[in-house]
Amino acid sequence: MDHDLTRLLGDLHAQGRAHDEPLADRLLRLRNMTPEAARLVALLIRVQRSGRVLEIGTSNGYSAIWFADALRDTGGRLTTVEIDGERAATARRNLVRAGLADRADVVHGDGGEVLAAAPDASFDVVVLDAERPAYVEYWPQLRRVLTPYGLVAVDNAVSHREQLTAFDELVRRDGAFAVQLHEVGDGVLTAVRCG
Ligand SMILES: C[S@@+](CC[C@H](N)C(=O)[O-])C[C@H]1O[C@@H](n2cnc3c(N)ncnc32)[C@H](O)[C@@H]1O
Repeated sequence: MDHDLTRLLGDLHAQGRAHDEPLADRLLRLRNMTPEAARLVALLIRVQRSGRVLEIGTSNGYSAIWFADALRDTGGRLTTVEIDGERAATARRNLVRAGLADRADVVHGDGGEVLAAAPDASFDVVVLDAERPAYVEYWPQLRRVLTPYGLVAVDNAVSHREQLTAFDELVRRDGAFAVQLHEVGDGVLTAVRCG
């Protein structure tokens, strides 16, 4: 990653922290991923040589920049979905600032609807970083849109472990996925389709 991008990510992360710190209402916070968690997902994108990545929960585009940078290396493309129109617009501007606008489509919409409308086997990686209670409902569509050896990565798997218990159990019960919890940042749960 070049120096300018490293600096932009550092600035965005610091601004996100400063923005969130005084806000009591969780929904008003930007809630960026930790750099450690974003770096892990970016690493997995590179290792997998991902072509198509879907992120649900863009916020201001902080993690999207990490993923789009990895996808520049693999020749792939990111679709990132944000339900808040202002945040989607900010994310587009931040991707332009990062020189990565050509690697990412920011969709203003509902992640569940985008998942339901996506063709079968259309994403190599799906990153979930939105409203955790919805993930259980996403599962049938998630497994449908994943390619063979596709990966689901879920942030906050340690910080909000109790909210992800049902999802974790569902994925482990599925039997077709190798599931691993990474104690990195706020915790990243990964599930890889075994073929
Ligand atoms: C934890 S933040 C995402 C942080 C972002 N991944 C980052 O690291 O910068 C969650 C975001 O998901 C958005 N969101 C909530 N429900 C959503 C949904 N159903 N579809 C798309 N976005 C949603 C919220 O508006 C919020 O901006």
